[in-house]
Amino acid sequence: MSEAGYRISENVSLAGRNTFRVDAKAEMLADVHDPFALPALMSEPWLQFAPLLVLGEGSNVLLAGDVPGLTLSLTRARIAIIEDAADSALVAADAGVNWNDFVHWTLGHGLCGLENLALIPGTVGASPIQNIGAYGTEVGEFIDSVQAFDRETLRLREFEREDCRFAYRDSVFKRAPEQNVITEVRFRLPKARAVQTGYAGVAEELAAMGIDGAPTHRQLAEAISRLRSRKLPNPAVLGNAGSFFKNPIVDAAVADALKAKHSALPVFPGDSPATRKLSAGWLIDAAGWKGFRDGDAGVAPQHALVLVNHGHATGADLLRLAGRIAGSVQARFGVALEPEPRILGGRFQPIAPDQALA
Ligand code: FAD
Ligand code: EPU
Repeated sequence: MSEAGYRISENVSLAGRNTFRVDAKAEMLADVHDPFALPALMSEPWLQFAPLLVLGEGSNVLLAGDVPGLTLSLTRARIAIIEDAADSALVAADAGVNWNDFVHWTLGHGLCGLENLALIPGTVGASPIQNIGAYGTEVGEFIDSVQAFDRETLRLREFEREDCRFAYRDSVFKRAPEQNVITEVRFRLPKARAVQTGYAGVAEELAAMGIDGAPTHRQLAEAISRLRSRKLPNPAVLGNAGSFFKNPIVDAAVADALKAKHSALPVFPGDSPATRKLSAGWLIDAAGWKGFRDGDAGVAPQHALVLVNHGHATGADLLRLAGRIAGSVQARFGVALEPEPRILGGRFQPIAPDQALA
């Protein structure tokens, strides 16, 4: 540990720090173990206008080139109950805490709410960025506040939940990626809550575990973890960043017209009564991409929404494949796909099928 509260290295490979396992380099990397060192570090003159990437476990980034400026990683990982009420607790977790460890810590302390989010890769610090969600739960529902270092004012500030503007795979932080360094997240977690088992496959997984009737929150977390392990490739074995595209939100009339032509297309409620969410996985699958491989860049055989690195794909290879997929879905269904991970060092662009061979 350095006395300054951080350690800086130059020209460092990030291959082990992103789950696509793409070999890109950080110009400067700072591992920060004391968040109170941020004001001193970030007011260094060379850093004031340099590009900034705050990197957690790299499970939602695509490094399409080397990363200029500063890559910053927060390593402190403390968890504490800061208020214990009769029916809930307020828990503070450092940005560097592993998300799945945190879920299990809360369940082990008799707190619930996060069980449907078990086994999502990444850190607590990244959880508010895209308002992580799975199996019918979004984390924003349980976030009380977010502590962040504001790069403009060089001060720590607090965002109440309403300030975070959480929506499907979106937040105020996602929209201004170089502005805030999240140092701590506070969660308001209930001590009792009805289990949410309505998402497709969950009840079946519980039944397969021999659990009839009401599962405990821990059993539900276990069922979700098993389901996820079967449905998604493990990044430790096959590089990936989970869903590569968001499920597109379209006008209800567009969804109705598509559903009339393609009755199997899954359609879910959108973010308002006038919109619907479509399944990007279904659209990509129906366009024939599942299991596709071009060199080492490919699409997972078990889930069409997941791009994979079979070994030595570059970020640019994966970005090009993403463009081809989006171009083909646009041509076939008239639906625009938007990437979910943050793309660095390249620009996402749909590639029309007739341009794909050029
Ligand atoms: P990174 O990938 O390191 O960073 C992601 C973004 O957050 C970047 O823009 C980064 O700059 C920013 N960021 C990270 N930490 C901070 C911080 N402390 N302060 C400010 N900005 C920060 N996501 C879901 O929502 N639901 C899922 O079900 C899901 N399943 C997945 C399954 C797999 C197999 C994989 C590989 C990914 C999955 N994801 C899922 C995506 C990913 O797990 C989440 O987005 C996660 O929150 C990313 O955490 P991370 O620490 O790896 O963030
Ligand atoms: N489908 C296909 N073919 C496929 C994959 C899916 O037709 O190859 C169809 C099926 O009809 C399936 C439906 O798509 O029932 C939905 O699939 P799934 O339950 O796997 O959910 P998803 O919409 O593809 C979303 C999230 C996941 C999250 C799961 C579970 C997005 C972009 N993705 O996936 O999050 O884990 O729901 O809640 O919203 C991530 O963000 O990285 C991620 C993995």
